[in-house]
Formats: sequence, structure tokens, C-alpha cells
Amino acid sequence: MSDAGSGDAANARDKGGVLAWLDARLPVVSGFRKEYVEYRMPINLNGLWNFGAILTVMLLIMLATGIFLAVNYTPTAAGAFASVEAIERQLPSGWLLRAVHAGGASLFLAALYVHLFRGLYYGSYKRPREILWLTGLVLLLMVMVAAFAGYVLPWGQMSYWGADVAGKAVDAIPFIGPGLEHVLQGGDAPGDVSLHRFFILHMVVAFGVLGVVVVHVAALHFTGSNNPLGIEPRTPDETVPFHPYYTSKDALGLVLFGVLFAALIFFMPGLVFEAENFRPANPLHTPADIEPAWYFLPFYGMLQSVPSKFGGLLAAMGSILVLFLVPWLDTSPIRSARFRPFYRVCMGLLVLCFVLLGLVGRHHAEGGWMVVGRLAVVYYFAHFLVLLPLSARTERRIVLPDGIAAALDRDL
Ligand code: HEM
Repeated sequence: MSDAGSGDAANARDKGGVLAWLDARLPVVSGFRKEYVEYRMPINLNGLWNFGAILTVMLLIMLATGIFLAVNYTPTAAGAFASVEAIERQLPSGWLLRAVHAGGASLFLAALYVHLFRGLYYGSYKRPREILWLTGLVLLLMVMVAAFAGYVLPWGQMSYWGADVAGKAVDAIPFIGPGLEHVLQGGDAPGDVSLHRFFILHMVVAFGVLGVVVVHVAALHFTGSNNPLGIEPRTPDETVPFHPYYTSKDALGLVLFGVLFAALIFFMPGLVFEAENFRPANPLHTPADIEPAWYFLPFYGMLQSVPSKFGGLLAAMGSILVLFLVPWLDTSPIRSARFRPFYRVCMGLLVLCFVLLGLVGRHHAEGGWMVVGRLAVVYYFAHFLVLLPLSARTERRIVLPDGIAAALDRDL
């Protein structure tokens, strides 16, 4: 190092110690200050804006517990079930590790759905936040893949037959289906090779989620947060610094969510486990009832409600793919459903249909449930492809308040 260089370093050290020295070379400290201390946020965010922070913390918990589970897990058809049993019964606190990871997956997906519907309700996907929305959807797909692959790993009856149903669904895709199924399973039925592939897929995608979250949050900090009114802050008094205002609000949200998490793990540990999955995988015995984890039930309901196998797959996959088009399907100048009476009713119906489809998935789309399922599928797609573009026409004459402060003065 040159004399001048070492002199600068010594100066920085004298002025602010090691952190200042580090910041002069890699601005982690000032960057953190800029993005998480002084960063300006709209003053009117409600509790639904806690869910991003909740998801981030949950993701870190899932990755940490996942690493400890992985080092004790055997990814072979012969050893997987027994290794999970050993984690439960022999590994010190192994039961806790597994309960946090499996219960965490359920709560993670629940928080993800709240986060997504929050975005839809308040129009957070609209210009200039399209990239933020699209990266969110990539995260949704990745989390679903990771959750599905994780469900297969204990290699119980539900794991095995769940993988079998998914393989058959992939097989129904014309032309590429059978080849794709073969790549995924490494054979004609789930087995040793499939389990190994699912294990690797689970780990790689889960850590990949962390990388995409960084891009997601970078996109958020570039555009700034939307808010329940959907009106951009115009004056400094319509914003507050992130710290202490939203650090404390996020901390409160995290504590409340943590209480719910603890209640699930310690008082209802069986809620997220299927009884059938405590039996080792048996390719010769199909369980009476094969159904996925609750968070996939709405998509399973769609799969069953459509008469053809491929049609069902198209509906289930299309229901997520259509979300990628939402920023361009909704041309209304108004963001938040708070000022969009027609859209508000449509959103209510959308949530209702999503829940109903979950029930249809659970009741196997038979009899009356089949009718409910078909109506719900039709509404789901009509919502995005017909009603959303139509709502824009009904809203051209809506007049928004003159800013966040003016709206809050009028108790809006
Ligand atoms: C691993 C999953 C995810 C993580 C960790 C995550 C994290 C975050 C964080 C920390 C925020 C800022 C706080 C907040 O507004 O709640 C945020 C905002 C946002 N996220 Fe996500 N997110 C995830 C998935 C998604 C998904 C699936 C979507 C939907 C497509 C999405 C769409 C958005 C939008 C639109 C915003 C901005 C909201 C606004 O300002 O109104 N995110 N996310």
C-alpha cells in the first residue's frame, strides 16, 4: 500500500474507528443508514405493511433450521423416513427444529398470501412498481416449488403419493410432459433418484429465494412504498424516517406473529402434519385420500374442477401466470381499492373464490363441490381478464384527495 493510502486509512480510523475505515472502502454502514434508518416512508402504512418484514425474518428462520435438518437427513428412499424419525426422537431438540421448519412453512405461505392480496387490494403493482410486483411473483413460484419439494422429503405415504400425483399432472402436458416427468422423477415412478433430485431442488431454490428477495427489496427502495391511500407522498410531512417509526412497528408485528408461531408449534404441533405421512412410503398401497398441504388446496381445487387433466393443469398454472399481467390488465388511474367501490366488491369475491377453491380441493370436487369449483374458476379468471380492465372504465371520474395529509385530515 502507498504511504498516501495508509495515511487515509489511518485518518479514517482516527475519525470513526473500524466502521468508518470499512465504510470508506465498502459503504455498508452508510448504506444501511440510508436504506434502513433515514429512509423516508409514507406516514400512513397499516399493519398489512408488516408482512414483508415478517416474510424476511421467516425466510431466515426457514434457511437456518433447514441447514440443521439437512445435515441430519438422509436423501435416499431407504433412509429418508428413518432419518426424519431420528431427528424427531433422538437428535437433541430435533423435534423443535422440525416443528419450526414445518410449521414455519405453513405460516410462511399464509403470510405470503396476505402479502400478495394486500398488493392486489391497494394496487401496489401499478406504475412505477411493476418490477417489484414481478419479482414478488417469481418469489411466489420459487417458494411453491421449494415447499412442494420439501413435502416429499420425509418420504411418508403423503410425500410419496403427492410426488406421484404431481408427476402424473406433469405427464399430462402434451408433447413435453412425459419427458419432463422423467427428468423430475428420474424414472417412471417416484424413487431413489427422485428423492435425491427433490432434495437438491429444495435446497437450491430455497437459497435462491434469498437472492431474489434482495432484488425485490432493492426494487422497493428504488420506488418507495405504496400506502393504503395509493397516493404518492408529495411533501416531507407526509413521510417519516424508517427508524424509529417503522422499525418499532415492524418489531410489534414480528412479536405478534411470533406469538402465533409459538402457539402453533407448542400447542398444535399436529396441525401441519398429515397422519398418513407418519407411515413410510409404500408404492404398493395408495392412501384412501391424497391431498396436498392446505396452501396448495386452491390450486388442487382448480385442477379437479376442470374436466380434462391438461385443462386442470392449465387452469392451476394459469391462475398464477395471469398475475404477471395484472399491472397491464388494470389501466385504472386509481390505485387503492379504498377509492374503487366496484373493484372493492370484485376483490371480496376473488378472496371468497380462492377460499372456496381450497374447500373444493379438500372435498375432491364431487357433486355440489364440483359446481362450486367450476363457478369459482370462472370467476377467478373473469376477475383478472374481464372485470379488472372493465373497472378502469367505471373509475375515470373518481376524484382523489389532494395528498396523504389532506386525506388523513378528512379521516379517509
Ligand atoms: C419470499 C417472499 C417475499 C419476501 C421476503 C418479500 C419481502 C418484502 C418486503 C420486506 C417488502 C416491504 C415491506 C412491505 O411492504 O410489506 C415487500 C413489499 C412488497 N412486496 Fe414482497 N416479499 C415477498 C413476496 C412477494 C410476493 C409473492 C409478492 C406479490 C406478487 C410481493 C409483492 C410486493 C409488493 C407489491 C410490495 C410493495 C408493497 C407496497 O409498498 O405497497 N412480494 N416485500
